[in-house]
Amino acid sequence: MRFLLIICLLCVQQTIANTPFWGKTGHRVVGEVAEQHLNRRTQRKIAKLLDGQSLALVANYADDIKSDDRFKEFGPWHYVNFPFGKKYGEETPSEYGDIVVAIEKCIAIIKDKEASKADRAFYLKLLVHFMGDLHQPMHVGRAEDKGGNDIQVRWFNKGTNLHRLWDSDMIDFYGMSYTELATNLPVYSKAQKKAIVSGDLLDWVDETRQITKKVYASVEIGEKLGYRYMYDHFDLVRSQLEKGGLRLAEILNELF
Ligand code: ADE
Ligand code: ZN
Ligand code: ZN
Repeated sequence: MRFLLIICLLCVQQTIANTPFWGKTGHRVVGEVAEQHLNRRTQRKIAKLLDGQSLALVANYADDIKSDDRFKEFGPWHYVNFPFGKKYGEETPSEYGDIVVAIEKCIAIIKDKEASKADRAFYLKLLVHFMGDLHQPMHVGRAEDKGGNDIQVRWFNKGTNLHRLWDSDMIDFYGMSYTELATNLPVYSKAQKKAIVSGDLLDWVDETRQITKKVYASVEIGEKLGYRYMYDHFDLVRSQLEKGGLRLAEILNELF
């Protein structure tokens, strides 16, 4: 009996340890980059709506509520899966929603003059989070392996999976705090920043999706990964974090 109990506890612990999300640091970096690109008016309006909380502080709220059954409906809002060879929208959308529908819904409610302050703040916090997820290539993934969650690999000799590698393993290995990382992202010129924020949500989905394909092709099942993988891929993590932040700021500056 006691043996069974221990097995159960280990299983629960594994499930918690494997809960998929762009790690906390990644989401905070996206919030911090966005914060630095808000115009004065937007800063003021957001400070009022969030009672002075920073975007970095609220960036993980959408993950924090995952374990609360009252917020179950928001679970599928963190990602979208569709087959290679298709574009987003060519497949019948999930009845439970996906990250694209989620971002559009957040924008609609923040815009809505009739919506309560509580609702607008709630959906703003979700938007900050989902714009981060949208730039994690495995959140625009393939259904059959749950966005890489079922692709087991080894990271510095510890078991992980392709999804978690891109959510958090690489970022955690880099060892910077979110503020350090936010000030050490790729430096783009004004023209480059303008190009990054141009286009619409579906263009950004397509762009992430091109990266998703490369990420799937970057590992073999069970492969032992370490320094070489960091060297080959961490610049891409850094540019995705910067793009996520710039595009979040673009949406917010337009909204407020
Ligand atoms: N669950 C199923 N697919 C997923 C994905 N692409 N990202 C995160 N969680 C998932
Ligand atoms: Zn994730
Ligand atoms: Zn998420």
